[in-house]
Amino acid sequence: MARTKIKDILKREDTGYPVNIKGWVRSFRNNQFIALNDGSCMSNLQVVIDLGADENLLRNITTGASLSIDGTVIASQGKGQRVEVKAEKVELLGACDAEKFPLQLKNRPSLEYLREIAHLRFRTNTFGAVFRVRHTLAFAVHKFFNDRGFVYLHTPIITSSDAEGAGEMFRVTTLNMDNPPHNEDGSINFKEDFFGRSTNLTVSGQLEAELGAMAFSDVYTFGPTFRSENSNTARHLAEFWMIEPEVAFNDIYDNMDLAEDFIRYVIAYAMEHSKEDLDFLATRLADEEKQKPQNERSEMGLVEKLEFVLNNKFERITYTQAVDILLDSPAYKKKKFQYDVKWGIDLQSEHERYLVEKHFKKPVIVTAYPKEIKAFYMRQNDDGKTVAAMDILVPGIGEMVGGSQREERLEKLEQRMNEMHIPTDEMYWYLDTRRYGAVPHAGFGLGFERMVQFVTGMTNIRDVIPFPRTPKNAEF
Ligand code: 4AD
Ligand code: MG
Repeated sequence: MARTKIKDILKREDTGYPVNIKGWVRSFRNNQFIALNDGSCMSNLQVVIDLGADENLLRNITTGASLSIDGTVIASQGKGQRVEVKAEKVELLGACDAEKFPLQLKNRPSLEYLREIAHLRFRTNTFGAVFRVRHTLAFAVHKFFNDRGFVYLHTPIITSSDAEGAGEMFRVTTLNMDNPPHNEDGSINFKEDFFGRSTNLTVSGQLEAELGAMAFSDVYTFGPTFRSENSNTARHLAEFWMIEPEVAFNDIYDNMDLAEDFIRYVIAYAMEHSKEDLDFLATRLADEEKQKPQNERSEMGLVEKLEFVLNNKFERITYTQAVDILLDSPAYKKKKFQYDVKWGIDLQSEHERYLVEKHFKKPVIVTAYPKEIKAFYMRQNDDGKTVAAMDILVPGIGEMVGGSQREERLEKLEQRMNEMHIPTDEMYWYLDTRRYGAVPHAGFGLGFERMVQFVTGMTNIRDVIPFPRTPKNAEF
């Protein structure tokens, strides 16, 4: 008999039909009631087995064991579930060493502990929910762009350029590190390396996406990106996924509209298609909040917070206004900020969080940053001081999006690259787009894990990617 997924059985109204189900035992009580989970949804399916079942089999039905069961779906005799399966045949697929199985532990394992056993954590309710929601969000990303006629462009993972110019790259090489070939001046001779040049893992697909936008008008990338910044925070990963749309003919205002529409769309999609999981995560978060002191608890529950984002326009301010608000804040006056505030600084996460969590209490788009703290490709504003950048800051996360209108004027771009010591000869291909039919264009990058954090309410970014890569950690 073909396998039926538990989700599909729970969805059906009728009973009395035969099924085969397969999954893992979550619990077994009274030698009679199995709670079986196959990962298709949060809920377990109750399976009732005959009291006279074979002793050897009964001994092996423990938490974590995998079973294949033939039976009939019937209206449940007990409370707590609408339907259950009356088993006719139970087959043990894989026994589970109950003495050692870490998830056998009765008391709730902590998120930190589960991170150490990330290879098993998918089998908990919390991580089942998180990763099903992550899937739903990823699907919504593609649906949003596909429905709007964007071309999904796969930009390279191995590159020789540093798109952000921040020097936070992982080198890719096949040279023998114990004895690399040297140039006469003592430097390593990358001409002998695999690609005949020095290469690294990409920090962003933007530059190549721009090349695509100059032909397809509307493109997006959605792929892994890598940064070797040594930030051990709850919002940084060394390997993370980024969504980067790039749109010809868009200016910075179109770019902001696109980003807002996009964020609202994927949140609404998840709320519609992952309701059971989000309700569970909302309850989990509410329990976690109760552990905190009263004044640190968030005012809104998870679902309310998501609804709030759906129903309210994001605040739009310039960097200069942001700095003024910070200088005028009680936090600044009482010297509560660790980092100083003045025009020209890069906003620190404490500043960003003050703006969204305390001042505006909603997502904020900050534009027109000083050119000194932003990348070379951003369009220079007429004031000569700022660029057409936009960062989207959200409560609980800080920066979720970084984007800009791009500098499409060749001379201005070259001048800025020279100022920032970015080799214009090596980047001829990028500059070519400004030589052959340049158009105004804009795009942004949204950190997918930060989005998953926002939607699931998970406080640590390590808990929203299956196998996190962070400084000193690449287990699994
Ligand atoms: O602001 P960033 O550096 O922008 C870019 O890379 C542009 N090239 C994007 C573009 O315009 N196409 O990064 C974009 C977003 C950030 O806002 C943040 O959400 C996420 O990527 N991000 C990280 N997420 C997790 N871990 C890290 N180490 C991250 N660094 C950036
Ligand atoms: Mg940024």
